[in-house]
Amino acid sequence: MKTSSSFVSGITEVLLKEQKFYRPSAKILKSAKVKKWKEVHAKASKNPVKFWEEAAKELEWYKPWKKAFDGSKAPFYKWFTGGKCNIVHNCLDRWMGTPVEKKTAIIWESDNGEHRKLTYKELNKAVCKMANGLKSLRVRKGDRVAIYLQNIPEIAISMLACAKIGAEHSVVYAGFSAHALKTRIQDGQAKVLITSDVGHRRGKTIDMKGLCDEAVKGCRSIRHVVVVKQDGVKTPMKKGKDLWYHELVKKQSEICKTEPMDAEDPAFILYTSGTTGTPKGVVHVHGGYMVGVNRTFQWVMDIRPDDVYWCTADPGWITGHSYIVYGPLLAGITTVMFEGVPDYPQPDRLWKMVDKYKVTLFYTAPTLVRAVMRYGDGWVKKHKLSSIRLLGSVGEPINPEAWRWYHKFVGKGRCPIMDTWWQTETGMFMIAPLPSMPLKAGSATLPFPGIQAEVVTLKGKKVPVGKGGYLVIKNQWPAMLRTVFNNPKRYIETYWKEIPGYYLTGDIAAKDKDGYFWIQGRSDDVIKIAGHRIGPAEIESALVSHKAVVEAGVIGKPHPIKGEIAKAFVILKKGHLPSEELVGELKKTIRKELGPIAVTDEIEFVDKLPKTRSGKIMRRVLKARELGQEVGDVTALAD
Ligand code: PRX
Repeated sequence: MKTSSSFVSGITEVLLKEQKFYRPSAKILKSAKVKKWKEVHAKASKNPVKFWEEAAKELEWYKPWKKAFDGSKAPFYKWFTGGKCNIVHNCLDRWMGTPVEKKTAIIWESDNGEHRKLTYKELNKAVCKMANGLKSLRVRKGDRVAIYLQNIPEIAISMLACAKIGAEHSVVYAGFSAHALKTRIQDGQAKVLITSDVGHRRGKTIDMKGLCDEAVKGCRSIRHVVVVKQDGVKTPMKKGKDLWYHELVKKQSEICKTEPMDAEDPAFILYTSGTTGTPKGVVHVHGGYMVGVNRTFQWVMDIRPDDVYWCTADPGWITGHSYIVYGPLLAGITTVMFEGVPDYPQPDRLWKMVDKYKVTLFYTAPTLVRAVMRYGDGWVKKHKLSSIRLLGSVGEPINPEAWRWYHKFVGKGRCPIMDTWWQTETGMFMIAPLPSMPLKAGSATLPFPGIQAEVVTLKGKKVPVGKGGYLVIKNQWPAMLRTVFNNPKRYIETYWKEIPGYYLTGDIAAKDKDGYFWIQGRSDDVIKIAGHRIGPAEIESALVSHKAVVEAGVIGKPHPIKGEIAKAFVILKKGHLPSEELVGELKKTIRKELGPIAVTDEIEFVDKLPKTRSGKIMRRVLKARELGQEVGDVTALAD
C-alpha cells in the first residue's frame, strides 16, 4: 500500500465516525493510579527522558546509570548507560524476604483443566535450579538459548533462568514448524534448545520432541536439547545430547547468583516477520526494557498488589514476553498461564477460568473476541465475571462491533477496555489509554506519556485530521529494540531510512479531532493472521520449495474472525496442472515449512504475476485487484 502520494487512501471513515466517548466510572476514577492524565501527559512530553528516569527509579539497580539517554550513535540509541541491573533481579530476587514471596506468581491451567500454582518463592527456586542447570551445560553470559515450548510454567522458568545468568533467550512460538525453528536457531546460533516431549491442544497430543529432532539436524551450534516431560510417553533421547529437564534440575542448587548486567546488555532476541526475506531477530536489553515494560504495565493495567492478571497470548510472542512473564512479575502480581484454547471443551472455557481464578485484569486479542462472539451471548452470560476490573486488547485493530460486545458482555458495561497498540520492536505499549481517560470504541486513544507518535506522509509531513498516513514515532523510548540480531544494516533500513529521524512502524493510521489514533493495519505486506505476524516472503518461499511451483505472490485478505487470512497466487512449472490435490499438497508444504499458523486459506493458480522491472513481485497490485480496490501508482510495473 506504499504510495508516494501525500495521503494513504482507503482509511475507513466508518471508524472515524465512532466518536462517542465512554467515560470511566467514578469507581475507576477514584482508584486509578493516574488520575490527572492530561497533566501527566503534558509533563512527560516536556521532558520524556526525565519521565523515564523517574520510572527507572521504581526498580532496583546494582549500580545507578550515568546517562539516562544517549543518542550520539543514532539510530543505535542507548538508555541508562553505565547502570548495572538484571531484569530477573527485579522480577524475583527483590521479592524474596518480603510478603510477595508467599504470593502466587503463576497460576497455570492445562489443556485438560488441571492446574498448578507457583508462589514467588517457588518460582525463584525453580529459576535458580534451571539457571544452574544451564550453567552446568556450559551456557554462559552472551550465549543464546532457544526455547520451543507451549504455554506451560517451564517456558517462563526457562526464560527467567536464561536472563538471570546473562544468556539471551530466543523463544520460538510452538505453532511454528521444525523448519521455521531451525532457521531461527541457525540465525541466533543457539547453544541449547529447551522443549518438551509432547504438547497438548484440544485434547490432542503434539510430538514436540520429534519436531525438535528434525529441527536440530544440521544445527551445529546446538550442544544439548533439554526436554520437559509432559506425558509418560516413550521419547527417544540421544545419549549425551538430549537431557530430561527434571533430571537436569534435580541435582542443582536452589541458590544461584543473578548476573549483574550492563543496562544495554541484551536480555533476549525474538524473531518477527517483515515484508521480505527471513525473520528478524529483534534485540531487547535488560535496563530500558524492564523500565518501559514496568511503567506501561503498571499504569495502563492500573496494577494493584492483589491483582490476578490473565493475558491470553502465547509466551512465544512479544505480548507474552512483556505482559505474561516480565510485566506481571516486575509488578509482583499473579499471572495466569493457559495451555488450552478458548472453545475447548466448550465455548465458555475462558469465562469459567475467569470466575474460577477470580481474574481482575483480562487482556486478549480482537480475533479471540470475535471468535467467542460467534458462539452467541449465551455462553458468556452464564458467568458472573464480577472479579474483572479492566479489559485489554492487542494485536490488531479492534472493530467497534467487537469492542462493544467485549465491553457489554465481558466487561458487563463497567470495565474500561485498554486497546494497546505496540509491536515486537517497541517492546512495550506505545499508544494506549490510561483507565482514567475517556475511550472510543475502536481507538487505541493517545500515545503513552513520553511517547511522541504522529501520522505523516512518506516525506514526513503531518497529515490533516481524519486522513490516513504512516504511523511514526518521533522520539525514543527505553524498551525500543536496539538492533536486528547480527544485521545492523537491516535495522537501519527497515525502521529508520524511509523517513529519516522517525521510527517507521509499518502501520497506517489516522488521527481524529481529539488527537485519538485509529490504527488501520499494516502499510507494508506483513500479514496478521489471528493476530499472528506472518511474512509473505516466508510463505512464498515455502511454496516455491514445492516441485510444481515456479513463483508465488502472497497477500493478506480481510477475514471476519481472523482479521486477515493469507491468499497465494501461484505460477506452476511446465508440465504441472492445477488441481484440488495440488492445492492440498501446497497447503501441506506450507504447514511443513512454516507451521499450522501460516497455512494459506486460498490458493489461486495464475499465469503471470505483477512485477517491477527489477523482477520484484508487486503484492500491493495483487491485493488491490483481489479486493477490487484502486491499484494506485503502477509506474514501477514492468508489464
Ligand atoms: O499492525 C500492528 C498490530 O500488530 C503489529 C505488531 O505485531 P507484533 O510485532 O506481532 O506485535 C503484536 C503485539 C504487540 C502492529 O504493527 N497491532 C498491535 N496492536 C494493535 C495493532 N493494531 C491495531 N491496534 C492494536 N492495539
